[in-house]
Parts: sequence; structure tokens; C-alpha cells
Amino acid sequence: MTVSKIFIAGAGNVGSASAAFMSMKQLGNVYLFDIIEDFAIGQAMDINQSLPYWNSDSKVSGCRSLDEMEGADVVVITAGGKRAEGMTRLDLLYQNLDIMYQIGEKVMALAPKAFVHVTSNPVDVLAWALKAKWPEMNVTGLGCALDAMRFRFFLAEHLNVSREAVGCTVIGTHDDNMIPLVARADVGGIPVTQHLTPADEERLVTLVKHGGGDIVKRLKTRSGFFAAATKVTHIIESYLYNKQHIFPLSVTLNGEYGYTDMALSLPVSIGERGVHDIFEFELSDHERAMLDVCAGSMRKVISEIRARQ
Ligand code: 2OP
Repeated sequence: MTVSKIFIAGAGNVGSASAAFMSMKQLGNVYLFDIIEDFAIGQAMDINQSLPYWNSDSKVSGCRSLDEMEGADVVVITAGGKRAEGMTRLDLLYQNLDIMYQIGEKVMALAPKAFVHVTSNPVDVLAWALKAKWPEMNVTGLGCALDAMRFRFFLAEHLNVSREAVGCTVIGTHDDNMIPLVARADVGGIPVTQHLTPADEERLVTLVKHGGGDIVKRLKTRSGFFAAATKVTHIIESYLYNKQHIFPLSVTLNGEYGYTDMALSLPVSIGERGVHDIFEFELSDHERAMLDVCAGSMRKVISEIRARQ
């Protein structure tokens, strides 16, 4: 059996933790790149030395050049500026956009068939930008998949049940406009709203929306990464094993939900072709209004990017 080649651009916290988790799960051989001389090499050495415990024969290689992505089955892009305390994810836009274009050039030259997955922020905008520049690129962004896992955690804590018993999602954009779909969440197949007061709902939605920011407040100069890297691992596993698991990922829309030429985080199934389906469901008036807010701010950012080009 051939072993998959997974290239990770950016050996910061999300990139290195993703390399560790994916190699622990033996998803493939991982190539970890960073522009800081030797950094990715040191991280790879450390991860490799942990793998005997995990009974994993994956190999992690630190790379000094993006050229080592040649022939990769998967390219995960985590490179870029990080959010410090007081910054929004959008504050990172132009710095990270340039990085996306540099890496995107390499992907199209060296691994054009790869499944590309972006975690750098603002993730929905960056996933759109790559697809707009290279329509043939098979690209998604982490989007609200991380927020959906946070929502599941907070709901399970609140209800004092197993995290496995909770089903829920978050759609929209991975920013303050994100939409935790409380009315559609379930615990053991029963709508959670039957167990929540309006005040509980409000508190839980706020916890999810502030989930990333509350971590940055404590870490000061960096953002959380264990949860993001876990979800990246889950998504890449679904791709490599053709699982068709459903995640709310940033995808460029072509009429789905009535939107075009923008990326929003919406439920998609991920399998061997990358995105197999964008699942459409009927939105309530309230949900539609909130999704329109996400779409409106995305449209504004996209026109600013176009004006600058
Ligand atoms: C988060 O929400 C960094 O955007 C990432 O934690």
C-alpha cells in the first residue's frame, strides 16, 4: 500500500501539533516546512521520537524548502501571522494573503492534485482567495469546524453528558459573526433546546463565539492550537480514508444557499475527492438573516481585495 504524503506549510503551533497528531494516527508520512532555519527539522525530530509509544511507523521530515511538497497528496497551510491579544482575525489579512499566494504557486506547480487545507486566518477569506486565483485547486479552509467542536464541548459540559452524545454545528464565518445553530443541536437525538433556558443558550453561544479569543487573552501572543490541530487531523483522515464525514468548512459557493463568489463555512462531506457535497438545508428567517451578515462582510472584504489587486 502506498503511504500518503502530507506536506504542512508552517511549523508553528498549529502546524507542528497537526504533524504530531497526524503521525500519531499514522495517516501518512509528514513533511513539515518552516521558513525559520532548522525549526521544522527540530520539531520533526522531537515528534519522530514520540512515535514508538503510539505504535506509529509514520515518518516526519523537517523541510527547508517548499519544493519538498512535490507530489504531495495533502497540503495543509498553517503559515502566517498569528493573532495577538486585541487583534481580530481580519487584521492578519494582507500579510497572510501574500503568503497564501506564494504557497499556492508552489502547490499548482508541484502538487496540483493535492487536497489543500488552510487554517491561517482569516480562514474563510484565504480559502476563497486561493480558489479565486486557481479555480482548479481542491481547497477548503478549517472555517467553523473548530467552533463546532468547541460548541460540542461546551454543550456536553453544560448538560453533564458524554461529548459523544452531543450533535451540533456552527456555520457562517470563523469570526464574531459565526452562527452556532442552537436550535438544531441535539443530545442523544433530542433537541438541546428542551434542556436549555434562553439564558443558557445565550451564555453557550457567547462561549463558542469567544472560544478562540478567550484562549488568546490567556496566551497573550499566540492563539490556541490543540483543538485546531485535532480538527485538521480529523478532516485529513476523512479525506485519506474516504470517510465522507461532515464538517462546516470554508468553501467557495457557486449558488449554494443563494451565494456566489465567496467562501462561507457550511456543512460539507469530505472524502477522496475532497469536498463531495455541500449540504443545503432550509434556513429559518433568523438563521438566514445571520448568514446574510456573514455574507455581507465577506463580500466587503472581497471587494477590498479586488480593489487592491
Ligand atoms: C481559533 O479560533 C486561532 O482562529 C483560531 O483558535
